[in-house]
Amino acid sequence: LLHEGIAASTPIDWDLVRDGPERCRACPIGACATQAVPGEGSREAQLMIVGEQPGEQEDLQGRPFVGPAGQLLDRAFEALHWQRDELYLTNAVKHFKFELRGKRRLHKTAALSEAQACLHWLEAEIALLKPQAAIALGATATRALLGPGVKVTTARGQWFTRADGLPVLVTLHPSALLRMPISEHDAAFEQWLLDLRHASPFAGVRP
Ligand code: URA
Repeated sequence: LLHEGIAASTPIDWDLVRDGPERCRACPIGACATQAVPGEGSREAQLMIVGEQPGEQEDLQGRPFVGPAGQLLDRAFEALHWQRDELYLTNAVKHFKFELRGKRRLHKTAALSEAQACLHWLEAEIALLKPQAAIALGATATRALLGPGVKVTTARGQWFTRADGLPVLVTLHPSALLRMPISEHDAAFEQWLLDLRHASPFAGVRP
């Protein structure tokens, strides 16, 4: 049953959330990826950070945010005095989607239908972790957590409350910063820290 995602009768637990995405074929991209990349971090985390989808490095290592975007995120954690192992990091989409260019695998943004097909995994993680707050990094995560209608460029640095009561802070995806011209990096990073800092009260494990 799991090849279609989570069957209604399947009890949701951490084993399912960790191992289920690997077997999931609710959309086509899992069949091409090296492996699924489940969420990672403390099960006592008060803050869930949601990215878009695994990149090349994440696909190879099976862990979220270990490539260039993850390194920038780590720099932000350091500047904010957040401990990565006291957070919970995950993605809206659990498999790497790519386009082959010769031997290179180029990141391809997941289709809306693929993000939609993957959403039950993110919702299962939210149901299990019961975070106090979440951060949506970029448009795909924002849409997954808050639905359509919230635009990252205008909503960045602001909190939005989901129907289930979970507050979600919207900001840029680290890859967006990496794509900016070098001359803009420092200012963009400082601005990003200002956004992220709003979530500092939640950046630790449950007391
Ligand atoms: N970008 C993401 O959105 N997630 C990752 O895990 C890595 C890069």
